[in-house]
Amino acid sequence: MSTLIAVMAGDGVGQEITQEAVRVLEALELDLEFKEAAVGGVAYEAHGHPLPKETIALAKQAQAVLFGAVGDWKYDELPRHLRPEQAILGLRKELGLFANLRPAMLFEPLAEASSLKPEVVAGLDIMIVRELTGDIYFGQPSGVRTAQEGPFAGEQQGFDTMLYAQSEIRRIAHLAFQAAQKRQKKLCSVDKANVLETSQLWRDTVNEISKDYPDVQLSHMYVDNAAMQLVRAPKEFDVIVTGNLFGDILSDEAAMLTGSIGMLPSASLNDSQQGLYEPIHGSAPDIAGQNRANPLATILSAAMMLRYSLHNGAAAERIERAVQRVLEEGYRTADIEQPGCTLVGTAEMGQAVIQAL
Ligand code: IPM
Ligand code: MG
Repeated sequence: MSTLIAVMAGDGVGQEITQEAVRVLEALELDLEFKEAAVGGVAYEAHGHPLPKETIALAKQAQAVLFGAVGDWKYDELPRHLRPEQAILGLRKELGLFANLRPAMLFEPLAEASSLKPEVVAGLDIMIVRELTGDIYFGQPSGVRTAQEGPFAGEQQGFDTMLYAQSEIRRIAHLAFQAAQKRQKKLCSVDKANVLETSQLWRDTVNEISKDYPDVQLSHMYVDNAAMQLVRAPKEFDVIVTGNLFGDILSDEAAMLTGSIGMLPSASLNDSQQGLYEPIHGSAPDIAGQNRANPLATILSAAMMLRYSLHNGAAAERIERAVQRVLEEGYRTADIEQPGCTLVGTAEMGQAVIQAL
């Protein structure tokens, strides 16, 4: 029986980049069945909701979701629950995608593209494991209310709740320790335990779990220091595990170290190996429909999909080697353009990867 893959292109450049990733997957002839569903702004336009019921149903049925990007400034005035971003938050919650893997690695041919000195980033290979279904993103209560007492009485007051249950910390910690075991066996847990109660529980719990992984060297770092160390000496890191909010911020920072956010894939997993795979970059509405977007992050997300949801590491490596090859051959989309290289569009880049497979 063929494996069902849900394709959710979304907004902006989402359509173009997922199309190339699907073409690459098809070229591997793996008996995959692709079904499309609407998400984000386009879903709001067509169905009145950024995450329609049919989309959720397809996501649950599929082994994996290949996701493009959502969002456009033109939806900024909508009430929050109808904004495109709710599609991705809703899918994470509906599918229980608690583990977000965001590798930040430097592709050697692009070392010059980093804003840091090449010697600081050469060989960079970090894996950020971000908890994705808890924390201040989903903690209740949250809202805006009129303060009843105290110095701000009578004023509007916004509030969110940072919240982690110990079981949520344990399961992401296990996953991060196991990821570290397969790499350099170094895990850095990032929190703000000098100020936040939630973080103290996080740190204590990660320490407790570490007893199961004596082969992994565990360290702890406050998030402000981690933000600094990431630009000072990023190669000191192997695997980083952190909560939803800190992970959101640090993973963008880590992505930028590599010089091109257009290159980096991500995987979001639940505990039955279903996953959602998406590029780290956004929908870039300013260049949508112009055949200019870099499809490599989405193509590499498809490789992660093969590895984590379809258990086909060999096929994943074929894609990753092909991407490496096209970069060595000098193909570049506009975001990673370098003197002397061959500037290509989205579709040509996809074609080059297929050729290199
Ligand atoms: C990300 C994005 C999302 C997040 C937004 C679009 C809701 O920034 O995937 O990192 O904050 O998690
Ligand atoms: Mg983010």
